Amino acid sequence: MVCKEGLAFIAQIYFNPTVAALLSIAILVLVSKVWWRLRSKNDGEIPGHLGLPFVGETFSFLSANNSTRGCYHFVRLRRLWHGRWFKTRLFGKIHVFVPSAEGAKAIFTNDFVQFNKGYVKSMGDAVGEKSLLCVSHENHRRIRRLLSDPFSMTSLSKFVKEFDDMLSKRLKKLEKDGKSFVLLDFSMKITFDSMCNMLMSLKDESTLRQIEKDCKAVSDAMLSFPFMIPGTRYYKGIKARNRLMEKFREIISRRRRGEESPEDFLESMLQRDSYPSNEKLDDSEIMDNLLTLIIAGQTTTAAAMMWSIKFLDENREAQERLREEQLSILQKKEDGELLCLEDLNKMSYGSKVVKETLRMSNVLLWFPRVALGDCRLEDFEIKKGWHVNIDATCIHYDPDVYKDPMEFNPSRFDEIQKPYSFIPFGSGPRTCLGINMAKLTMLVFLHRMTGGYRWTVDDPDPCLEKKTHIPRLRSGCPITLKTL
Ligand code: HEM
Repeated sequence: MVCKEGLAFIAQIYFNPTVAALLSIAILVLVSKVWWRLRSKNDGEIPGHLGLPFVGETFSFLSANNSTRGCYHFVRLRRLWHGRWFKTRLFGKIHVFVPSAEGAKAIFTNDFVQFNKGYVKSMGDAVGEKSLLCVSHENHRRIRRLLSDPFSMTSLSKFVKEFDDMLSKRLKKLEKDGKSFVLLDFSMKITFDSMCNMLMSLKDESTLRQIEKDCKAVSDAMLSFPFMIPGTRYYKGIKARNRLMEKFREIISRRRRGEESPEDFLESMLQRDSYPSNEKLDDSEIMDNLLTLIIAGQTTTAAAMMWSIKFLDENREAQERLREEQLSILQKKEDGELLCLEDLNKMSYGSKVVKETLRMSNVLLWFPRVALGDCRLEDFEIKKGWHVNIDATCIHYDPDVYKDPMEFNPSRFDEIQKPYSFIPFGSGPRTCLGINMAKLTMLVFLHRMTGGYRWTVDDPDPCLEKKTHIPRLRSGCPITLKTL
């Protein structure tokens, strides 16, 4: 029952002209927003703010990228303002953020036909014109077919053993030291070393560190202004690329002279030397793609490793359940015996932890494409030349697809996912080439971490690193290990 005072209060508010005016304005704004959204949908026009020619919202994007909330904050805000579909203008180009599994499907299934990766000159210059990331449709199909075999599950069984060996030794040493270490630094180094070992059997520490430094310079130059001015990121990247190509050429020559022939990715490419031209890669194709593989594989896998530990630390139930599974696998092995593919196949909860880590961390936030002609996506009009970004983060956090999306819950993967709603590795002709390698690396890592140790996270700071397109903790997630 409303009391007398309550009625008087309501009447007072109702007749107060200021409050009434404010209420009317709020209702007007709300109605006009809803009307605008409906109208946009009917017209096929995507809502959004394009701002000034060329500049658009570039400064807001750069400011988000330069903050500890990360560049996705820019997207999050615009979705609040304009709705799920929105457009913006960045660096002179119109960008549409595609938020749905249906939209993702339409783009992935028309990759190379209606959409393509936008070609950026600096990217081609840095990673090489023959890289999978830059070549034409025809060449992409051929190069990808020839690169794929060493990345199949069966070919990676040697990689599993070697990675496990490297990891077990390094973790043991860190535990013995008893000191806190930055997990991200550790994961960056071990993914780099294990990939270089798998690709070219490189083991020498000083060579590895020089190549790692140069790969980072190349990666930094991929989205820079392409002017050869000393001191710029582009300049440093091109110089680093030249050094890397020199190094790769030297290794290939030594192999051709028969001075060394270890069993690795490079050797499997060179064994095709006498094959017809469409059945082999030429030297520049091999070298550009060696560089591409390292750059595409290191930071992504290393960031995912770091997030898996952070999420498990915050979700002890999941950590204990994973530990139980890993200990049961360990119990059936000899002391010190290395993992093999069959062991990894038994890690059913482990695989769900990997999936949930990738869903929540969104190591690659969105996948950029350019529309090759005018078209429609889910009733929205897309113009030729517009950039359409498949927003994997939005899809992975969609509460209609994932219940309580911000909760780390590996068991949600007991159920089969709706098509194109779980896309951490993309889909279609450009699906991640290293998908198996990434999953195996993470499984081995989780096995050794939970089966052999407990850890404490020594800095709980949730802030993200600035100026990076891959979300990573600013602290790098320092941890201390303790043997079980
Ligand atoms: C957790 C780790 C990883 C994640 C989340 C990841 C994610 C992705 C995604 C989403 C794409 C497709 C991008 C697009 O459609 O625009 C991609 C492509 C690619 N990835 Fe990965 N990746 C990972 C690890 C690796 C590793 C370990 C390697 C290599 C050893 C690798 C090599 C590649 C290559 C070469 C491409 C380009 C494929 C093409 O264009 O045909 N990735 N990755």
